[in-house]
Amino acid sequence: METDALKNQKQYNDLKSALAVKAAITGQILDELLDEQTEIPQQLKDAMNYMLQSGGKRIRSALVMWCCELICGKVTGPAKIAAAAVEMIHTYSLIHDDLPAMDNDDIRRGQPSCHKQFDEATAILAGDGLLTLAFEILTNKIDDATIAVRMVRTLAEAAGPSGMIAGQVADMNSPHANGSMERLQYIHMNKTAEMFAASTAMGAIAGGANDKQMQALLEYGMKIGLAFQIADDLLDITASSEQLGKTPGKDAEQGKLTYPALVGEEKSQQILEQITCEAIAALAHFEHNADILRQLALELLTRTQ
Ligand code: IPE
Ligand code: IPE
Ligand code: MG
Ligand code: MG
Ligand code: MG
Repeated sequence: METDALKNQKQYNDLKSALAVKAAITGQILDELLDEQTEIPQQLKDAMNYMLQSGGKRIRSALVMWCCELICGKVTGPAKIAAAAVEMIHTYSLIHDDLPAMDNDDIRRGQPSCHKQFDEATAILAGDGLLTLAFEILTNKIDDATIAVRMVRTLAEAAGPSGMIAGQVADMNSPHANGSMERLQYIHMNKTAEMFAASTAMGAIAGGANDKQMQALLEYGMKIGLAFQIADDLLDITASSEQLGKTPGKDAEQGKLTYPALVGEEKSQQILEQITCEAIAALAHFEHNADILRQLALELLTRTQ
């Protein structure tokens, strides 16, 4: 059941096309950035490109651009570079997440995962390459050193060993049977929400946000990131492999600590709605120009892929 706050929310009918526009921009920048890298060994480049351009939803990069637009009215050059950087880190995290030593998933985005298409060593190195290249472009392609350093710090803290990697470690070492809500929140905040918050924060940095705006967008980013991972947990149970482009049922098979495993599907859906309300509430002092962010939060409630 939807809460009143969600029902009263103004609908932004064009979310899909708005996301498609941003996804196209991201795809093009990634193409250009990789093309320029003439010294990457060809097989490595093919593997990096294979996963970078394999039809990801591009939500994190869209968030960078939307938050920048919200603050300053346009997508600046540094915002475009940050959008590319965040997709590189996200893509690396998926390549490594699918490896046999981790989730051991053969399908990603509807095609063979990187280690299946190439081989395990190439997949590990393609991930390493994307991780490193993300920071290279932030420092090489952004002229304003203050903006570049703030973005590097934001992304490094979110993706690093006390952020996303800490979440992945906990995810690997937390069987559902011994789970607690505290542990589950730790996993989801770190493995997923931190990268969403880094995306909104980098957009805010690019747009020149003040402290209050930054705090609001960080809060929104953490909330929708958590909502996104709860929805991912639910979809792992309810969706088909055609919808997901990845293998459903993996979490239960591997005994993962997830929201539905800990509290059941119905309660997970309620928590998802509650967190969506909180994400939208974080945007309270923005006007209608934040509606795309509000609508994205709503969309995550009912997403099917
Ligand atoms: C998948 O992220 C990994 C999670 C954090 C759940 P996405 O669902 O955004 O993956 P792509 O980029 O669209 O494939
Ligand atoms: C992935 O979480 C989180 C990161 C890659 C950091 P999952 O393992 O649930 O993602 P999927 O379901 O494989 O996309
Ligand atoms: Mg995983
Ligand atoms: Mg996985
Ligand atoms: Mg999952």
